[in-house]
Amino acid sequence: MCGIVGYLGHREAYPIIVKGLKRLEYRGYDSAGIALYDGNDIKLSKTKGKVADLEVRVESEISTNGSLGIGHTRWATHGVPNDVNSHPHYSNSGELVIIHNGIIENYEALKKELTKRGYTFKSDTDTEVLINLIEDVKNKENVKLGKAVQIALNQVIGAYAIAVFDKNKPDEIVVARLGSPLAIGIGEDEFFIASDASPFIEFTNNAIYLEDEEMAIVRRHKGVKIRKIHDDSLVAPYVQELQLNLEEIEKGGYEHFMLKEIYEQPRAIMDTFRGRLLTDEAIIKMAGVEDNMKKFLNANRIIVVACGTSWHAGLVAEYIFEDLARIPVEVEYASEFRYRNPVITENDVLIAISQSGETADTLAAIKMAKSKGAFVFGVCNVVGSSIARETDAGAYTHAGPEIGVASTKAFTTQITVLTLMALRLARAKGTISSSDYRKYLFELESIPSKVEKALSSDNHVKMIANIYKNASNCLYLGRGFNFPVALEGALKLKEISYIHAEGYPAAEMKHGPIALIDEQMPVVVIATKKGHYEKVVSNIQEIKSRKGKIIGIVTEGDTSVKELADHVIEVPETIEALTPLLTTIPLQLLSYHIAVMLEKNVDQPRNLAKSVTVE
Ligand code: M6R
Repeated sequence: MCGIVGYLGHREAYPIIVKGLKRLEYRGYDSAGIALYDGNDIKLSKTKGKVADLEVRVESEISTNGSLGIGHTRWATHGVPNDVNSHPHYSNSGELVIIHNGIIENYEALKKELTKRGYTFKSDTDTEVLINLIEDVKNKENVKLGKAVQIALNQVIGAYAIAVFDKNKPDEIVVARLGSPLAIGIGEDEFFIASDASPFIEFTNNAIYLEDEEMAIVRRHKGVKIRKIHDDSLVAPYVQELQLNLEEIEKGGYEHFMLKEIYEQPRAIMDTFRGRLLTDEAIIKMAGVEDNMKKFLNANRIIVVACGTSWHAGLVAEYIFEDLARIPVEVEYASEFRYRNPVITENDVLIAISQSGETADTLAAIKMAKSKGAFVFGVCNVVGSSIARETDAGAYTHAGPEIGVASTKAFTTQITVLTLMALRLARAKGTISSSDYRKYLFELESIPSKVEKALSSDNHVKMIANIYKNASNCLYLGRGFNFPVALEGALKLKEISYIHAEGYPAAEMKHGPIALIDEQMPVVVIATKKGHYEKVVSNIQEIKSRKGKIIGIVTEGDTSVKELADHVIEVPETIEALTPLLTTIPLQLLSYHIAVMLEKNVDQPRNLAKSVTVE
């Protein structure tokens, strides 16, 4: 939530910051702002709206020269999205300026204290409280900016990634992190600050990722000094070489990132397999699993924690792990799990699934499980993310950057990793025969080309989207492995088209949702061969008798559903447990086309952010 960018060096800061903010808009996009030091003073401009609106505002408001600056793109927490609440925020003297991603939980108490001491506040934000606290400390204690930031942060409860500068010290930026990501790009005599590396990847591939409870003073010509916020100890900077490249974060000719990411799935799944699926040798190699095999094999159960789409991938995993490896699995919303008093023992394995690796609830669930002695395994996409670092071991999905807010390739690659894990454990436990194991391995290898084939229904799906684009509601039904896919299909539709949609296990329909069915109601039914096929066909009959409009997702060559349904979309045949990797494709395309036809902002749907770093 919220993207931050900063620059200190020898180039013009403005174009770097604006471009960087555009790349970080996936993190929040309800307002944006920038503060530049022009050699004399701080020039600040901010506005409700997107970074493109900020550019227009800047043109008429401030000059854009200067080689020091900070910028922000916001997802509102405290205070509605408006010009005043947008970041950056000045301190009362106008000498200090801050950008912040996170939440200061005790800001009201701090604000009361500061108000008593004569401070005034223009905005409703917690961030303006923090910058005034820093100023207050700086003046009261007569210390430099870095020390003031450190003392102030020790009084703060909450989460933050911040960047602050002082107009009287235009050769340094002070940054700090707790619970929100912060990367420092190291160039030739220049430094970049950002929530992730995408804003600076064309300038440098050397970066330092601050750890929680660390702060850094970034000085022109002098470099970066890192300290622990709480005990003041110095930390040796660890400079990583980044693997990211520019093409991965650009649209590459597609109209939207979401469409690009849908089409990237065959390649992404192949990348997930790389080095792991060794079909010729009939083995699956996963270092994180191999190294901790005993933990998995001795586990009483696996608890999966995740949110949103990642939670749906967890549900698919429940079916696959139980079916293949015969390990009991429970799937929990991280946000619920962390706040109840779950029974967790040292014999539990917790699998945390997260595309961003930054989701606050998932991170908190991990910390809780670890404190109770559970072994925690992460399935993340973003390399070096907080969850990847917090877990005991893990497996990356290697999907590449996912920028569209609606998760697509993250979902299929998460399922891919989890399927590989389930198969590896099944083999180790002896719950799968060697011939079935080989069958799975060969079938997995064919999945990327089958996903490619599923994508070829795009025009047909577009035609169906055109028929149903004005629906007010939509039901998604599936059974077994495809029940979670029904949930995911419904989530995709609602988050980008704002059409109300519900996913249900097909057999549950008659326990309530069937009352909703009439001739206005499109019902998407996943009815692939095997997997309770006949039962799902009966459910389709029940919908048809009530005049619902049926869109069937069927196996190539199916004839029975074709006779009953208003439309069918075919996917290639595969082993039942692998069908989610294919059935999800037309559902992604359907929601994409409907949203485009309704002229919605597909990549940046209202009220959402890609990375939910607040609870
Ligand atoms: O980064 P994560 O996988 O932890 O994110 C979890 C959810 O916020 C995310 O899947 C969200 O539901 C997506 N917008 C769904 O498309």
